[in-house]
Formats: sequence, structure tokens, C-alpha cells
Amino acid sequence: MELINEIKELKLQLRNLKDLSPEERSKEGQRLNVLVREKEEQLRKQEQEQKMAEINSRLVNDELIDITIPDLKKRVGHLHPVTRVQLEVEAVFADMGFIIEEGNEIVTEFENFDSLNVSENHPARDMHDTFWLSDGRILKTHTSAKQNEMLKKYGPEFRAIFPGRCFRNEAIDATHENTFFQVEGMMVGKDVSIANLVYFMKSMLSAVFGKDIKVRLRPGYFPFTEPSFELDASCIFCDAKGCGICKKSGWIEFCGCGMIHPSVLEMGGVSSTKYTGFAFGFGLTRLAMMKYGINEIRHFNSGNLEFLRSIK
Ligand code: DAH
Repeated sequence: MELINEIKELKLQLRNLKDLSPEERSKEGQRLNVLVREKEEQLRKQEQEQKMAEINSRLVNDELIDITIPDLKKRVGHLHPVTRVQLEVEAVFADMGFIIEEGNEIVTEFENFDSLNVSENHPARDMHDTFWLSDGRILKTHTSAKQNEMLKKYGPEFRAIFPGRCFRNEAIDATHENTFFQVEGMMVGKDVSIANLVYFMKSMLSAVFGKDIKVRLRPGYFPFTEPSFELDASCIFCDAKGCGICKKSGWIEFCGCGMIHPSVLEMGGVSSTKYTGFAFGFGLTRLAMMKYGINEIRHFNSGNLEFLRSIK
């Protein structure tokens, strides 16, 4: 029987209760009233469902709704891995009193090269496959391009880091990209030494990896530092025991650094007889690769959501 008729029937029974004794009438009355309420509720639900089904069928049939669109699951987004590592690095250096600035992506030849002791015919220019713009400016090949500006702006005493995106006209492979991020650091003042450089790098690396990281310096060459070093970090993958990633050496090459060359200081308006400073420049993208154990640099700029989501 349809619900509506069942309800009618029950109501009829309720009306006929008058023929019963008072006790039976009250008992039966209660029972019937409960039933009526239940049936009415069922009916209400049934009508609602019918109405919704009608609306849905109209929306779909009249093509007001595209039922082929995938269901939007709730996903919580997160920052890009490079941004995350950048924020961590910035927080550590900010705690140690460093100013943080971001540099331009388009810079002059002077900023990128000449102010760093890399004159026009310097062989070091060959190592930076440069993207030139038609107006003679360039896409910065390294964050060092902001050193001169920082010296002029904050010299003679300051400590600063300046992260930024860099570009090199390189063939790309698993470890080389034409677009990547670096973080440059400088500290200039009276009696700034290599010991300070080692301390800050060790502190930053230990904070980012959440464990004690050792650092060591090897002699290196950069036109803008004297002396120049390559800084290695103890291998984070095997805790310096020696593994495939560190080629059994226990060390991973981390960055270039050194004491700022006197003529770089002078070009920035800082007296090289009164002040000294250190500088370093490391690959932020590389640091993110180390932190998240990623061995393919091309993932970072690929916009590949599957990859990005896999990094928690
Ligand atoms: N600019 C260098 C590069 O991109 C890295 C570097 C080396 C930066 C030594 C420095 C430094 O500040 O002192 O290869």
C-alpha cells in the first residue's frame, strides 16, 4: 500500500477508537499516533528524495551539469619544496642576525661579472653560459650578482643572505637545469674570518637537516674571493660513514665560498685595508634535493603535481 493511503487508514482507525474502553482507547491511541508520525516522516523523506532525483535528472539531461568532471576531493596544498627549504634557510640566518633580501633576475654585465673581478676576457665567463637580452643586460647566472649592490647599500659592516633564481644556458640533465635557485651570503666587518664562515655554514646545515653536520674546506678558485674554497658537508645519507651517494668518501660537495677579494670590497665602496668579509653561494635547489632525497633536478620546474604531492 502506498504510504499516503496507510496514513489515511491509520487516521480512520484513530477516529474509531471511541468504541473502545477508556484504557484500551489510550493504549491503542498512543500506538496509532506513533505509527502515524513514523509514516508521515517516511513520506516526507520519500517526497524529498523524489524531488532531488527530479532536479538532478533535469540538470544532467538538460546538460546543466557535466557529470564527467572528476569529483573534487579535498586536498591540502603545500609550498613548493624549494620554497620550503628557502624559508628554513632564511629562518636560520635571520636568527643569526642576517638581513634577507631578494635580488633582480635581470642584471647588468657589471653586476654579474665585472664587479666580481670577472672582466670581459676572463675565462670564468665561459663557465657561465649566459642568457643575454637584446639591451645588453643579462639573466643573472648567480646570486653573487647582488654582492656589489649589497656592499654599497649596507657596507662596511653587515651580514646578509640573498636567495634568488638564476639562469644558465646549459644543456639540462638529471643534475643540471637552466633555471635554478641559489642562496648567496656575505658578512663584512672588522676581523671577519674564515672561522666565522665555517661556524655559520655548520649551524645552517645542522638546523636544516636536524642533526650535527660537519663541514670541511678544500682549496678552490673563484675570481671574487681570495682565498677561495669548496665547502663540503658530512654526508647526510650515511652520516659520513661512506655510501654510494658520497662515493664512499663521507663528504658531499656543498658550495663555493671564501674571503671576499679586496678589489670586490673596493668596487663596493668598502675599504679593504680596514674591513674583511666572507661570501658563499650555494644551490638551494641542490639543498632541497639533498633534504628530500631527490636525484632528478628536472622535477622541480616540471609542474608535475604527482611529484610535488609526493614530497611531504
Ligand atoms: N657564484 C658562484 C657560482 O655560482 C658560487 C660562489 C662561490 C659564491 C664563491 C660565492 C663565493 O659568494 O664566495 O658558482
